[in-house]
Amino acid sequence: MSESKILLSENKNGILYLTINRESKLNALNFETLEELKNIFDEVNDNKTIKSVILTGAGEKAFVAGADINEIAELNELNARKFAENGQEIFNLIESCHKPVIAVVNGFALGGGCELAMACHMRIASANAKFGQPEVNLGIIPGYGGTQRLTYLIGRGKANEFLMTGEMIGAEEAKTLGLVNHVAPDKQGAIAKAEQILHTIMSKAPLAIGMIIDCVNAVFIPSENGYQIEANGFARCVKSDDYQEGTTAFLEKRKPNFKGE
Ligand code: COA
Repeated sequence: MSESKILLSENKNGILYLTINRESKLNALNFETLEELKNIFDEVNDNKTIKSVILTGAGEKAFVAGADINEIAELNELNARKFAENGQEIFNLIESCHKPVIAVVNGFALGGGCELAMACHMRIASANAKFGQPEVNLGIIPGYGGTQRLTYLIGRGKANEFLMTGEMIGAEEAKTLGLVNHVAPDKQGAIAKAEQILHTIMSKAPLAIGMIIDCVNAVFIPSENGYQIEANGFARCVKSDDYQEGTTAFLEKRKPNFKGE
């Protein structure tokens, strides 16, 4: 794996556990953390020993409490656009990863932290999780894709309220809104739930999982024709050895043994 100072990574049986480790700053995303996220996700697609990812924050208090406000305070009109585009590019990389990425949200997921969780394919929250886009309190708006992903996830009216008031919501409300998939009593429980989901997904054909990610992501990109991407992905799957294995195993009444080819 790449050399990382802030991101802790450990591959256990195909699940890459990534922990943002800036606990004293509530895991706020500074430039260095973003760069490390980019480097690791560049590697995740190519590394055959990684089948899926769980992303979380160090400690019990925060997933990520936002972009680092010390760095935001230094921005000017010239570099602010680049700042936002850089974050968007990294979050798009996570969203388009061909291996499932689950955010385990343990505590505060604010601003860039909420945006990071939304860029993952699923979110499992611990009961103490708090979500919010408080940028308006600083006189700015989300810049890492939050206005777009939140609106797709929870709908226009609720997204407007969430973004314009900057208020936080708890894990259960986030679940009701569709922002999180499941709520667990604590961080360990949330990790266990994420592992359970990933073990199920990892027993399926990896190519099909990657194609599903492309198709679902296409819904959120107005310039893409999702139906065309689906038809292409379907054809690509049918060309694979795993398709032969899946259909043969069904007919032979046994479990398939997918190889990712
Ligand atoms: N950027 C930089 N540092 C941050 C941070 C952020 N987004 N969020 C928290 N921190 C730092 C605090 O400055 C503090 O550092 P210090 O001990 O060196 O002073 C440390 O993390 C602990 O935070 P603190 O505010 O003391 O904890 P708290 O329990 O009183 O409050 C929050 C927790 C999350 C409510 C509060 O930290 C907060 O509002 N953070 C900013 C959230 C935000 O606006 N995010 C969006 C940014 S665009």
